[in-house]
Amino acid sequence: MPKPLPGAATLAALAILSSCSSPKPEPPKTVKINKQPFGQTRNGESVELYTLTNKNGVETSITNYGGRVVTLKVPGRAGKFADVVLGFDSLDGYLGNNPYFGALIGRYGNRIGKAKFTLDGKEYKLAANDGANSLHGGVVGFDKVVWKAQEGTGEEPSLKLTYLSKDGEEGYPGNLSVTVVYTLTDKNELKIDYTAGTDKDTVLNLTNHAYFNLAGEGVGDILGHEIMLNADRFTPIDSGLIPTGELKPVKGTPFDLTKPTAIGAHINDKDQQIQFGKGYDHNFVFNGGGGLALAARVVEPKSGRVMEVLTTQPGVQFYTGNFLDGSVHGKGGKAYSYRSAFCLETQHFPDSPNKPDFPSVVLKPGEKFESTTIYRFTTQ
Ligand code: BGC
Repeated sequence: MPKPLPGAATLAALAILSSCSSPKPEPPKTVKINKQPFGQTRNGESVELYTLTNKNGVETSITNYGGRVVTLKVPGRAGKFADVVLGFDSLDGYLGNNPYFGALIGRYGNRIGKAKFTLDGKEYKLAANDGANSLHGGVVGFDKVVWKAQEGTGEEPSLKLTYLSKDGEEGYPGNLSVTVVYTLTDKNELKIDYTAGTDKDTVLNLTNHAYFNLAGEGVGDILGHEIMLNADRFTPIDSGLIPTGELKPVKGTPFDLTKPTAIGAHINDKDQQIQFGKGYDHNFVFNGGGGLALAARVVEPKSGRVMEVLTTQPGVQFYTGNFLDGSVHGKGGKAYSYRSAFCLETQHFPDSPNKPDFPSVVLKPGEKFESTTIYRFTTQ
């Protein structure tokens, strides 16, 4: 028997049902770059916070105040996300006293001995802001200036920051124009591309000063993290943390991190170099020929988070948060305690302007400075 035709009421009900089920609801649109106000500097300059999200849900937020990486949320073995960089919830924290959390560092990252150098026969005097030496670009380095920001338009979310460091700024010669592009790739990498040009001979050393704790910021110390550095040599320092000029083999010293080693394994050894650094605060000399290559691998055994560092730079400052002492209160008011983070600041060697045998850090007009560093996150 043929089925009776549906009545008007049934048809109306069917229409409602079909309008609910089709068309299918759109999947939530992934916000790739989200821009929000982050406050004002003490000079009244407005500063923004850009949040970049990749297709895996990995997220980083970066402010154009000092080009600082404010958050970096990556998954662990069980898929749980944690913010793995130290920092602050608001701009105020960054404007106050803090040891360069997440910042871009320049014009010269790391130390220049006796706060001076000679270039083309002329002596340049810098601010002595670290005892007798100059550290991280002086009193107002690239970490404390407002960068121009432009959102990228590529497939993967990126942020382009530019800054013109004027001739004579912090004592350095030449107008130096710097571009830094942060890209959050779909391979869960935070890629940092640096380029620069100058109109007079100058020196430069650019890096990023993120403080990492792969268990999550504010979660205890980093002594159980295991580190491998692809470096057979390091640059020993004097008591003011200025390299002596020697490239010393790491073999048989606490600096042999060529095989995965717990950061805490030798950090308190009775070794003069360890004592000068109050732990690790040394430049390691990478093996390899200057192309983009694996420089470091760090594993946090409990969460399974792994960070690999690839770079075109010849060295890295491995710093174990020896000057953190709980006095700085970061995100959520957490006190950032002794050795609760480590830094891997890819760089040219400290004090290179005064060390003719170190790879040159001189940039001349017409030349283009280029370098790339990648922080890649996986699990094991
Ligand atoms: C230096 C440390 C210093 C830290 C924060 C690192 O790059 O090597 O000695 O304490 O920056 O300023």
